[in-house]
Amino acid sequence: MRKALIAGNWKMNNETEKAVSLVNDLKTELKNVEDREVVVCPPFTVLKEVKKVICNSNIFLGGQNMYWEKTGAYTGEISPLMLKDAGCDYVIIGHSERRIYFGETNEFVNKKVKAAFAYNLIPIVCVGETLTQREKGDAFKVVEKQLREGLDGLKIEDFRKLVIAYEPIWAIGTGKTATPLQAEEVHKFIRELLENMFVGKSEEIRILYGGSIKPENISVLMACKNIDGGLVGGASLSADNFIKIVKFI
Ligand code: PGA
Repeated sequence: MRKALIAGNWKMNNETEKAVSLVNDLKTELKNVEDREVVVCPPFTVLKEVKKVICNSNIFLGGQNMYWEKTGAYTGEISPLMLKDAGCDYVIIGHSERRIYFGETNEFVNKKVKAAFAYNLIPIVCVGETLTQREKGDAFKVVEKQLREGLDGLKIEDFRKLVIAYEPIWAIGTGKTATPLQAEEVHKFIRELLENMFVGKSEEIRILYGGSIKPENISVLMACKNIDGGLVGGASLSADNFIKIVKFI
């Protein structure tokens, strides 16, 4: 049985005061939630402040990105060691905004995923197609390439802990959610592909959906067999909405 996971990706939002107030609300309202896992992924500058609030709670901390080296002359980058030091257990890797605006390739994703495991961080690996790719009938092909290259050479014991987020790019921040049918079709495809890549272990892997999740659509998405949670962007900036999403049933 896979435990549902709801992760809030705050992106480039929330300075200290807003961040602390938001997680304080989450901590209070979500304190009795046991049957699902909750993760918040704030910007780097507030990770430690957020950790202070959630350290004795059921909410986990995640980074939104990282570099794959441990230390060194990489101006502007954050290492897995630094994320651990700030109290993170998770890290988002290969988000489409990183791929589009910062040139991240599947090869980068692969190095980052391996580095995350080396430092005991669970990577939430994002994949998904653009609208043009979907309209050309290439959605499955794109997702398959992202997964085959992004997860190449992973150890089986690491693979079991992996979290995948399927985020169709046309649904991110657009208000246009994939229908449960569209999402489930790709989630099922991903699980079969993972089964094929890592023989017999895919039932343990959590595959999240991401793209305009709201309190109004979370239940129908979560009712799908292969959807194990959500990566929530915009709606995770409001305590009220994020709480409703976490308590989807
Ligand atoms: P959204 O973002 O919920 O605002 O569409 C999701 C994401 O980018 O992770």
